[in-house]
Amino acid sequence: MKANLYYLLIISLYFAPFNNCVMAQEKSIEKNIDSLLQQMTLEEKVGQMNQYNGFWDVTGPAPQGGNAEIKYEHLKKGLVGSMLNVVGTEEVRKLQKLVVEETRLGIPLIFGYDVIHGYKTLAPIPLAEAASWDMEAIENSAKIAAQEASAVGLNWTFAPMVDISRDPRWGRVMEGGGEDTYLGAEIAKARVKGFQGDDLSKPNTLAACAKHFAAYGFAEAGKEYNTADIGTSTLYNAVLPPFKAAVDADVKTLMNGFNILNGIPVTGNKMLQRDILKEKWGFDGFVISDWSSVGEMVPHGFAEDLKHAAELGVKAGSDMDMESSAYVLHLVENVKEGKVDESLIDDAVRRILRVKFELGLFEDPYKYCNEEREKEELYHEDHQAAVLDMALKSIVLLKNDDNLLPLKKDQQKIAVIGQLANDNNSSLGSWRLGSDNNTGVSVLEGLKNQSINFSYEQGPRIFNEEANFLNEVKVNETDTSGMQEAVALAKESDVVLMVLGEHGFQSGEGRSRTQLDLPGLQLDLLKAVHEVNKNIVMILMNGRPLAIHWEAENIPAILETWQLGSQAGNAITEALFGDYNPSGKLPMTFPRSVGQVPIYYNHFSTGRPDPESTVFWTHYGDEKNEPLFPFGYGLSYTTFKYTDLEIDTNNQNSIEVSATIQNTGKVTGKEVVQLYIHDKVASVVRPVKELKGFQKISLAPGASQKVTFILTDKELGFYNHDYEFVVEPGTFGVMVGTNSQEGLTGTFVLN
Ligand code: GLC
Repeated sequence: MKANLYYLLIISLYFAPFNNCVMAQEKSIEKNIDSLLQQMTLEEKVGQMNQYNGFWDVTGPAPQGGNAEIKYEHLKKGLVGSMLNVVGTEEVRKLQKLVVEETRLGIPLIFGYDVIHGYKTLAPIPLAEAASWDMEAIENSAKIAAQEASAVGLNWTFAPMVDISRDPRWGRVMEGGGEDTYLGAEIAKARVKGFQGDDLSKPNTLAACAKHFAAYGFAEAGKEYNTADIGTSTLYNAVLPPFKAAVDADVKTLMNGFNILNGIPVTGNKMLQRDILKEKWGFDGFVISDWSSVGEMVPHGFAEDLKHAAELGVKAGSDMDMESSAYVLHLVENVKEGKVDESLIDDAVRRILRVKFELGLFEDPYKYCNEEREKEELYHEDHQAAVLDMALKSIVLLKNDDNLLPLKKDQQKIAVIGQLANDNNSSLGSWRLGSDNNTGVSVLEGLKNQSINFSYEQGPRIFNEEANFLNEVKVNETDTSGMQEAVALAKESDVVLMVLGEHGFQSGEGRSRTQLDLPGLQLDLLKAVHEVNKNIVMILMNGRPLAIHWEAENIPAILETWQLGSQAGNAITEALFGDYNPSGKLPMTFPRSVGQVPIYYNHFSTGRPDPESTVFWTHYGDEKNEPLFPFGYGLSYTTFKYTDLEIDTNNQNSIEVSATIQNTGKVTGKEVVQLYIHDKVASVVRPVKELKGFQKISLAPGASQKVTFILTDKELGFYNHDYEFVVEPGTFGVMVGTNSQEGLTGTFVLN
């Protein structure tokens, strides 16, 4: 039986393009690849390593020579392995048909897209999802995104972005899991599983792509595309673990990035992509470059020209070239001139074909072109319910003096003020390529949906309406018209909802800021309202931590709502009126001022950590060391008490740490119980605190629960400078708490 299948396959491979390749078991994929590779010309192999952008959505600078005519020519010659930014079953089918039926071997294309937090139905931005600390919800959110994206012909997403970053000036913090490696690794796993499901050949799953490999989040000064210059300990212990977690979760692709790392562009970095990723970690998928990052090794000053860049990229383990054309124009020449060994081409092509086989594209190149699904899946009500749930879980209550929140329905005269309250786009964030304008439920709409009576004044217009994915957001710094009307409304109201923050396109790629305050005249507006009415709830809508020092000092209630996606207004309303009790915790530190940045909880001690009578200790003369709100921080409409910390060191290979948490308030609430350790003395200094476990529990009023964490070598060890994972004996501090600064502390000695 198997032999027949095999010969059938060889015959079908030899005589006819793929349109009905019988997919055998996974173990035969390698044989299929071998037989295909043997038949491919060098040009066709290089073609598989070439990705072109579709002919409309452009998510980066359009390269020279990448015009439609050349692309069509190359498609017909089998010189394109993948397309990005092509969506819709009709367009995908058209290009797939062209390649499958007109090229010699009919190798199907793989279609990639930035499905970052949803396709049409948008979940909260990833940084907001991270604030939920709810891995099940995050996995489900990615699953929903795959449902919709695969319904429009896509089979590959350029997500999850797993870049650790400690600098909110960088616009792309909105796209990741925050500052912490442990939380970031857990999120990476959840998102890969959500996108890829348990069977990648199913038509409602996507190949995932962990990006950007590596250290893009450490761009100096948070400036986009800037140099990253970090030591091996930070690389090994802070940056790489979320990528390793994605690889261990069987992520099919990685994307490298634009930055150099210690002087070498990551796209040309053999240590990263071959030595660590492919050798040490055994990664068997493929690496795609970032948009034109192969070609950008020339302006980096690392490659002489595009031909040299092609050589350096493939030697370093970049398997597919996104949009720079370096590979398709120069790799054949490089091989023929002996500059690149064909075995490197074969390895890259094998990896690419493997993912295409695993996706089932050889079995049925049109499996993602299901017009019925396209009609049924997009904006499905089940998806709206799922992203509403995700949004609720992502909200962080930062302040609630005198329990101003939750508000009572119809018992107060409510004023709503701020341009963002009436914005149907900003809550969708900047990575909303696939979605449609004005599909985010605004705060005003959310209030109306719950029949809440309120009055609204926009106040001064802060952002220009013409902002889009490509241009700068223009911010009004001078025109105060609208201010008086807003203040007058506030004056006659019982409570004022101030909806303030950033425009949806003020964070994301290319969106770095030097300041972290509320843009434009928003703080002036807030202070003017505060003059006439102190009962203010500030609803923050932002894509990054903000330095809201005055606000935190003077505003009694603050809800951090990030950019919550399609159901933003409904989620915010439910939280405001207590239909949902906020349970989010900050995945990134909020600074008191931008001058403190980078500021993060898992910092090192330094040699002079303690205050002195002189100036000779680690501090600023004009600012505190402490953040405004620490990592892991978030309040609830109830309160929790932590007692009975126990540390059990009698187990053979683990340390058991437990504590009891009680709901001491009047309503049911969820609490993210966090476990931190501190390896006090080690051969490579360790952070003063490191998250090594968390559990989100739900407690009714008065109820208690004992929460237990198990610490093993995996949690207690770290990578040394030789990239060896080591566990060293000695004293460890441990804390079980409600955030990275507050909890029960103890120590144990590891022998
Ligand atoms: C962009 C981004 C990357 C994205 C790619 C394709 O420049 O850096 O994250 O996936 O290009 O759009």
